[in-house]
Amino acid sequence: MTDFTGLRALVTGGASGIGRATAELLAARGAQVAVLDLDPSGVRKPLRGYAADVTDDTAVRGAVAAAVADLGGLDVLVNNAGIGAQGTVEDNDDDRWHTVLDVNVLGLVRTTRAALPHLRSSAHAAIVNTCSIAATAGLPQRALYSASKGAVLSLTLAMAADHVREGVRVNCVNPGTVDTPWVGRLLDAADDPAAERAALEARQPTGRLVSADEVAGAIAYLASPLSGATTGTALAVDGGMQGLRLRPVAQ
Ligand SMILES: NC(=O)c1ccc[n+]([C@@H]2O[C@H](COP(=O)([O-])OP(=O)(O)OC[C@H]3O[C@@H](n4cnc5c(N)ncnc54)[C@H](O)[C@@H]3O)[C@@H](O)[C@H]2O)c1
Repeated sequence: MTDFTGLRALVTGGASGIGRATAELLAARGAQVAVLDLDPSGVRKPLRGYAADVTDDTAVRGAVAAAVADLGGLDVLVNNAGIGAQGTVEDNDDDRWHTVLDVNVLGLVRTTRAALPHLRSSAHAAIVNTCSIAATAGLPQRALYSASKGAVLSLTLAMAADHVREGVRVNCVNPGTVDTPWVGRLLDAADDPAAERAALEARQPTGRLVSADEVAGAIAYLASPLSGATTGTALAVDGGMQGLRLRPVAQ
């Protein structure tokens, strides 16, 4: 018997990276887990895959309804699907702004709207949003992405307030740079991938990238009934990047 035994979870963006690690960890700790993703073809048992684009409200409602029917209810929603964007405020056109906000912000809204009626029936309802250090620190070349994650942080607080009396907790994790396929793609596109990776590692006081499993552990902590008194919080999982100010290492 573990903390997630008997609980049912849905993880968006659960076919890769942080979402995949989270889905696998929740299942290992006893949950029945559904994965909602653009491409769930790689999702393996005991996880159940459901195809949906979080920008499509009808598809989201259909996938959530199917997952809830198969799982027999829903206790945990992990809003993790997201996409990136690079550049300053000048560098992305309106279409790109609409696309990224549609996935990263409205995507979370759509899955939450579809899931809430079911979460209200749970004795251990929890929502965990994957936010980012980009919501709390000014990172260069991340204007649009930061705006989307700033909205996720604010939504986490607003949703926590709206639903606390319904027994639904809402929290988020704020990862630093995590070693996922997403960051792999960014590194592959860099002029000097090794130098880019070294710079990203050096930016985090631990001197390395965060692992997807470490973010999954933080999400599971917030989703667990053991955290029943925790709502409206943002948990940094960033190797100390947000909170620490180290002196440079003497050469
Ligand atoms: N990797 C990092 O450094 C990092 C840091 C902070 C926050 N995050 C956040 O973590 C989350 C996951 O990132 P990751 O690094 O694991 O990325 P990833 O690219 O490895 O995985 C993202 C998953 O989301 C799915 N997805 C994307 N758009 C979708 C859509 N419209 N509908 C449904 N599914 C969709 C993809 O198919 C993929 O399976 C994102 O919200 C991201 O903003 C990542």
